[in-house]
Amino acid sequence: MCGIVGVVGAENTMGVLLDGLSRLEYRGYDSAGVAVYENSVKIIKSKGKIENLKKKVGNLSIPAGCGIGHTRWATHGEPSEVNAHPHYSYRKKVCAVHNGIIENYKEIKDFLLEKGYKFYSDTDTEAAVNLIDHYLNEDPISAIISAMKRIKGSYALAIIIENKQDVIYLAKKDSPLIVGIDKEKSYIASDIPAILPYTDKVYYMDNMELARVEKGKVEFFDINGDPIEKELHKISWSIDEAELGEYDHFMLKEIYEQPASILNTLKRYIKEDTIDFNSAGIDKNILSKINKVRILGCGSAYHVGVVIQNVIEELCKLPVRTEYASEFRYGSSECSKDELVIVISQSGETADTLFALRLAKSQGAKTVAVVNVVGSSIAREAEHTLYTMAGPEIAVATTKAYTAQITVCMLLAIELARVKNSINEGAYSKMISEIKEIPDKISKILEENKKIEELSLKFKNLQHAFMIGRRMDYGICLEGSLKLKEISYIHSEAYPAGELKHGTISLIENGTIVIGVMTQDEIIEKTISNLTEVKSRGAYIIGITYEGNAMISDACDKIIYLPKTFKLLYPILSAIPLQLLAYYVSVGRGLNVDKPRNLAKSVTVE
Ligand code: G6P
Repeated sequence: MCGIVGVVGAENTMGVLLDGLSRLEYRGYDSAGVAVYENSVKIIKSKGKIENLKKKVGNLSIPAGCGIGHTRWATHGEPSEVNAHPHYSYRKKVCAVHNGIIENYKEIKDFLLEKGYKFYSDTDTEAAVNLIDHYLNEDPISAIISAMKRIKGSYALAIIIENKQDVIYLAKKDSPLIVGIDKEKSYIASDIPAILPYTDKVYYMDNMELARVEKGKVEFFDINGDPIEKELHKISWSIDEAELGEYDHFMLKEIYEQPASILNTLKRYIKEDTIDFNSAGIDKNILSKINKVRILGCGSAYHVGVVIQNVIEELCKLPVRTEYASEFRYGSSECSKDELVIVISQSGETADTLFALRLAKSQGAKTVAVVNVVGSSIAREAEHTLYTMAGPEIAVATTKAYTAQITVCMLLAIELARVKNSINEGAYSKMISEIKEIPDKISKILEENKKIEELSLKFKNLQHAFMIGRRMDYGICLEGSLKLKEISYIHSEAYPAGELKHGTISLIENGTIVIGVMTQDEIIEKTISNLTEVKSRGAYIIGITYEGNAMISDACDKIIYLPKTFKLLYPILSAIPLQLLAYYVSVGRGLNVDKPRNLAKSVTVE
């Protein structure tokens, strides 16, 4: 949700800001703006994509000590130039960009109106900016602390202050902020890709912390204003991973990176054919005490949970429930001390997931996060973190992080089963050797991309589609359906195959496309029956199954075959054709594949 970038001490402040914003556009793209400070503050904002802002800035090269920039995903106030950040205080003493939501902005605004402040935008941010301005008779750090104590909600604030040239002040609560240092220059950002071309050395800010960032120097403070020491981290992502290279879209690049991202993930956790979670501090002692499992996540991460629930139930014979993090937060079911709570999040910053994690922790559950972004809030707050080694994911619709999440969770399920003695050594070794072959099998599926591109033509003018499957296959349908909706805007519904006849079958008419995912032998026949029911009502059936499965030929008009693997590993393979399908349908319809309308990659508000 919204992206922040800033720099102190660069020769080309404006260039760094615009470049950083382009790299952050996946976080929000309804408006953008920059503020640079040299003697006075100059703000340039525009509605729409960063391209519009770039045009407006033109050749303007303002020599500046420091600057801040923002790309917005609207929460309070419609997307417009006036609501775009940065926002300036009424007395023109404070200028800031903000990610998050100021929940009590109305109360703050009323308080400030009484003091004579005037407001020009509909944003909650303007209230925070003026509140800091109000306290500015104190030194900036104290003024920001006073404002933080009064503000309720979440914020990453990057602030420039009158007469404090060459300084950016930061304040953070529940929204990410990092500070990067390179010799005489300092960079700030909400996400790593924004500053990756300039530095790989960063500090991660924690909640209720502040920072004063100067040229090549940063000081951190706690909410009492006391200085704090923080550890400098080295980022392992390379800049090439965050660049488009030879591909037309990041989504396609990321789909093709899956053999490598899964291989890297497997290399991290399989040592000499044995699963090794030592890097996350997870051992036999911890897993042997687990008697139930809960999986929490949002969007695609939740869909990983639906798949993995089936894997854990089958391998470990333990009760598992998968819940949307946003629902768990407000539910009344309590976690127990013998419960393993697996929290899944690519960004590690999704607000609902972060709060769900905190709740599960406070209830005494053992928490393990499966996260892609090193140093993110969820990664730091979970007791144990298993990183997916997917590298930076830029396209809004997740692909490589999703399959890396399934891979890590599969390994966790297999290890849990080994520790709980619910599988024998033979089954364990078989699964390890099969999972190691998954990257090559994905490459094989990717070689068949032309067939899927051809198939995508059938979807060009489609209004709606259905995807059905049972158990794990249903989990994959949920994700395939979401991909199609997200980037092609075709309404698609995923159904457990047996449920379609309980109502939704009334939507089936001549030419309706129904995709059936059928990888689990013991239930394939059941799904075939359900496909036959819709085929006889005119549906066009696409089946996804493993090579050599002749059972489904009569029921399907078109079949996509997957290389054979161990039955529980099919979800990693069956996701790939559905990702490619969604991609080609979106391209065929001329849509913005990487930045679909209304979406943001990382949702840091409730
Ligand atoms: C957003 C994205 C989804 C993503 C979800 C969870 O809604 O658009 O693609 O699955 O957030 O994100 P996370 O970073 O927690 O995995």
